[in-house]
Amino acid sequence: MKKQGLAWFLAAFVATAVGAQELKSVILPVPQTDGGRPLMQALKERKSTREFGGEKLPVQVLANLLWAGFGVNRPDGRRTAPSAMNWQEIEIYVVTADGTYVYDAAKNRLAPVAKEDLRSLAGTQSFVATAPVNLVYVADMTKVSGDAGEKDLFTGADTGFIAQNVYLYCASEGLATVVRASVDREALGKALKLKAAQKIVLSQSVGYPKK
Ligand SMILES: Cc1cc2nc3c(=O)[nH]c(=O)nc-3n(C[C@H](O)[C@H](O)[C@H](O)COP(=O)(O)O)c2cc1C
Repeated sequence: MKKQGLAWFLAAFVATAVGAQELKSVILPVPQTDGGRPLMQALKERKSTREFGGEKLPVQVLANLLWAGFGVNRPDGRRTAPSAMNWQEIEIYVVTADGTYVYDAAKNRLAPVAKEDLRSLAGTQSFVATAPVNLVYVADMTKVSGDAGEKDLFTGADTGFIAQNVYLYCASEGLATVVRASVDREALGKALKLKAAQKIVLSQSVGYPKK
C-alpha cells in the first residue's frame, strides 16, 4: 500500500509538473511601429465586425496589436493609451485557441494563465468561441482610488481608450474587431483565476475578416 501510495504521489507530481510546463511564457517580437494605413484612413475604416476567418494572428501581428492597445511607448514606462492618474490598472488577458496569457507590456511578453481554450467563455455571442483572439480587459482595483462611482467611471474610460487603440490598429491593418460588454463575468473570472479585486470591464474579439 505504501509503495502504491508513493507511486501515485510521484505520478501526480510528474503530471502536475508536465501540465504546468505545457504553457510557457511567450517573448513577443519587438513591435513594428512603422507602416500601416495613415491615421485618417484608419478612422475612416474603423468599424465593428462580428464575423471572423479562422486564420490565427502571426505572433508579430499580436505583438503589434498589444503594443498599439496598451504598450509602453516612452522610457518612463507610460503607455500608448492614457490612464487616470497614470494608474495603468487595466491588464489585457489574451484568450486564444492555444491558451490564455496576460500581456506584460514592460517585458513585451505573454505570461501564461491557462492552457485550455477558454474562448467560449470570453463572451456570450457565438462568434467569440471561434474568433482567433479575444482580449479581456481586467481592472486591477487595488491600483485605483476614489469612491465607487469614480472607480467605475475611470476604469471604464481607461478601457475605452485601449479598445479604441485596438480598433484603430485593426482598421490600419485590415483586421476585424468588435468590443463587447456581453460577457458572463463570473464564469470568465473563474476560468481566468481572477482575484476578488480584479474586475472584467470589457472584452474585444480580433481576427482576420471572414472571406
Ligand atoms: C461599451 C461598449 C459595449 C459594447 N458591447 C457590445 C457587445 O456586447 N456585443 C457586440 O456585438 N457589440 C458591442 N459593442 C459594439 C457596438 O454595438 C458598436 O460599436 C455599435 O453598434 C456601433 O458600430 P460601429 O462600432 O461599427 O461603429 C459595444 C460597444 C461599446 C462601446
